[in-house]
Amino acid sequence: MLTFDPHDPQLLVSGVPFDVLAQIRAEQRVCPTPAGAWYLARHDDVVAALKDVGVFRADLGPITGLPGIEAVPADQLYLSEIAEPRHGQVRRLYNACFGPHRTRDVEPVVGHICHRLLDDLVAAEAAETADLHEGYALPIPALVMAHAMGLPDHAAASFLEWSVDGSLMTRPVTPGTEPGGPPIHAFFVEQLAAERARPQPANHVFRVLIEAEVEGRPLTDEEIVTQLHFMVMAGVHTTRGLLTHVVQRLVQSPELFARLAGDRTLVAAFIEESLRHDAPVQRTTRRCTADVTFAGVELHPGDWIEVGIASANRDEAVYDDSEAFRLDRPDPREHLAFGAGAHVCPGATLARLEAATAVEVLLDRCATMSPEPGYDYPPVPGNLGHRAIPARLTLRG
Ligand code: HEM
Repeated sequence: MLTFDPHDPQLLVSGVPFDVLAQIRAEQRVCPTPAGAWYLARHDDVVAALKDVGVFRADLGPITGLPGIEAVPADQLYLSEIAEPRHGQVRRLYNACFGPHRTRDVEPVVGHICHRLLDDLVAAEAAETADLHEGYALPIPALVMAHAMGLPDHAAASFLEWSVDGSLMTRPVTPGTEPGGPPIHAFFVEQLAAERARPQPANHVFRVLIEAEVEGRPLTDEEIVTQLHFMVMAGVHTTRGLLTHVVQRLVQSPELFARLAGDRTLVAAFIEESLRHDAPVQRTTRRCTADVTFAGVELHPGDWIEVGIASANRDEAVYDDSEAFRLDRPDPREHLAFGAGAHVCPGATLARLEAATAVEVLLDRCATMSPEPGYDYPPVPGNLGHRAIPARLTLRG
């Protein structure tokens, strides 16, 4: 029987074995993982599982150091983990914070951030090689998120620090966490107290959460802080993955760089194909809540499902020439990189804006970009933001 371990740390080094995933899709549809979960590999199964929120419930317990959401008090449940109908009501608040109208407001700032980072890189690099990971793809999402949440720039540095030290992925009930909760929790407790002390909250995101009524009552401070924390958790690392993928691909393919520079209308297709081909969120997790037979497997309450977004995005039943990276797909947005159904990503517009702006600024400012000879670039996807992307830049005159 075929098995696949989506958590194998080796994937970050050697890349995802897409040939194995293709074999699973062809021969076995669903396969066991070493941790005792079931990995869904086919597009139609992935969509069905994501859409059936009655049977398959999101549970981020394990990635926060807990066995499951039974161990999490209700006021510490992240948006994804909240059951309907409450989920839909809390989600509306996220849309009010990050929906397309809000994204339009932050658009000029995203461009400004990208230009500023590139200025710094160019000024610092007397040598010709710039690290477009450390100096560009990595900081953009944290800086944009801090701005979109009305926070000072130094908050972005803290988000990155907490991402690197792992505390971003813990909650107050995670064993070993200090009494005030992880640093990001304590940070938002303080920010919220400051907003509450004003006659009117000055910050849009905080105001939305403070003034909200959900199931007939306002959110408590703990509920608000939990969702503020989740916004950062959900929006920074994921977008960093996308930016890393597009930047690295541009560096490694001068031909692609020249093609996009010559025809800017291709940038949107480039971003969408990166999302499909190199999904920044390679899998998501669900917990079964009922006895069901799904994709030929008998599942019971408590069983874990690994929803294989990366595999579904390469399903040959849906995409012609599915392993190829192409800019001429008829429906470029038809991929599952942002999920599907009731939990589909509410930050997709912002993520797309960040990626398109980051690419446009590189195309505006650089006449050419090329890889550093002899450097071993990590396989895409799989680096997800942890390795340098050295590039030789020739700036436009
Ligand atoms: C390229 C960047 C991004 C990718 C690939 C991505 C991917 C995803 C995926 C796959 C889901 C569904 C997860 C599931 O069903 O289990 C999701 C949900 C979510 N995303 Fe994103 N995301 C990105 C950026 C963002 C940004 C910038 C934000 C915040 C502004 C954000 C906030 C969220 C939230 C809050 C959810 C949970 C929605 C719910 O459960 O109703 N994401 N994202």
